[in-house]
Amino acid sequence: MPQHSQASTLFPAETLRDFARRVFVKLEIPANDAVQAADVLIASDLRGIDSHGVARLKAYYDMFRHGLINPRPNIRVVRQTPSTATVDGDKGLGLVVGPAANAIAMDKAAAVGTGWVAVRNSNHFGIAGYYPLQALSREMIGWAMTNSNAMVTPLGGAERKLGTNPIAIAFPAEREPPLVVDMATSVVPFGKIEMARRKGESIPVGWGVDGQGNPTTDPDQIVSDGAILPMGSDLLHGGHKGYCLSAMVDMLSAVLSGSDWGPHVVPFAMPRQTGERRHGNGVGHFFGAMRIDAFIEPAEFRARADAWIREMRGARPVPGGSGPLIPGDPERAAEAIRSKEGVPLLPAVVQELRDVAALTGVAFE
Ligand SMILES: NC(=O)c1ccc[n+]([C@@H]2O[C@H](COP(=O)([O-])OP(=O)(O)OC[C@H]3O[C@@H](n4cnc5c(N)ncnc54)[C@H](O)[C@@H]3O)[C@@H](O)[C@H]2O)c1
Repeated sequence: MPQHSQASTLFPAETLRDFARRVFVKLEIPANDAVQAADVLIASDLRGIDSHGVARLKAYYDMFRHGLINPRPNIRVVRQTPSTATVDGDKGLGLVVGPAANAIAMDKAAAVGTGWVAVRNSNHFGIAGYYPLQALSREMIGWAMTNSNAMVTPLGGAERKLGTNPIAIAFPAEREPPLVVDMATSVVPFGKIEMARRKGESIPVGWGVDGQGNPTTDPDQIVSDGAILPMGSDLLHGGHKGYCLSAMVDMLSAVLSGSDWGPHVVPFAMPRQTGERRHGNGVGHFFGAMRIDAFIEPAEFRARADAWIREMRGARPVPGGSGPLIPGDPERAAEAIRSKEGVPLLPAVVQELRDVAALTGVAFE
């Protein structure tokens, strides 16, 4: 039975995993693919990224209902060299296409040292960080990026032209935990605007602008006709660099793969607000895998990574602070707690899962 704590309710991760899996099966996804898709979603919930886990199940359901996801895609390599490939996802669920393409990148790295895979005709692939974690389990450095539907204005603009376009990369260490970078290239991912709306909270200045380009603290204004700002928010705080990183992700994931880019990406989480749904070349991803022994002795690398991590953790803390974390620490801490205590879901998310249960006939709770 779920336990209640303040506004959220705790659910065992395995309950959510099984529910998501059964919903995907009901949507005619093959059994193994449903297991894979549920694994990506639950990894997000376990890692504390509430916006990208089962909170998105209704959005995936809607995409199926609109016929925008092919439940049984023919995921195929359309061009390749020993170390590179372009994969066509055949409009499959991103939570299935992403892992399949990432596996190709890792297999190529295993064979020739590094593997680089651009993906077109896909959909939302969940958290970018899931994919480099797979590479870590094969003792590799892993990369993942994706574009997403336009919610972000290029710096200086007052119009959505870019997705929140995340980048993830992970490096193994020896005694220290791995270093896992996983971040939107906007100030915040759209999910954090969505969660603020669900909680009825305002958002900080610097997250976004209204339709005229004025700063706003109202998440509804971002959703109606405003935009999220690139990481850094403004020129003074490096907003141009967030814009540059987002451009890099869109170029690699979409312009290079043959997918929709910039404002042409099919809407995912908020169809009504971003206009008519339409069929294009889908969302694009980019994956990389690097075998460490292609560059340096793996034991030497891991020892050097340990030293690097200890150096950063050892930095003199700010007054009253406890010193730096390393990328990946917050998600690892969340996973340690949530895998034991359960995943907290807001009432609005629980209600959406009940709605999905009613719509699909899959029992929940
Ligand atoms: N699929 C998509 O379309 C899409 C789009 C945008 C974002 N996302 C996902 O949303 C998730 C959240 O993104 P975000 O930008 O809010 O991430 P975030 O700001 O919570 O964290 C970004 C990174 O910073 C690290 N970090 C956090 N606090 C730190 C600290 N004090 N010191 C050092 N490192 C620290 C984290 O470990 C993480 O690697 C990610 O998993 C991302 O992949 C997905």
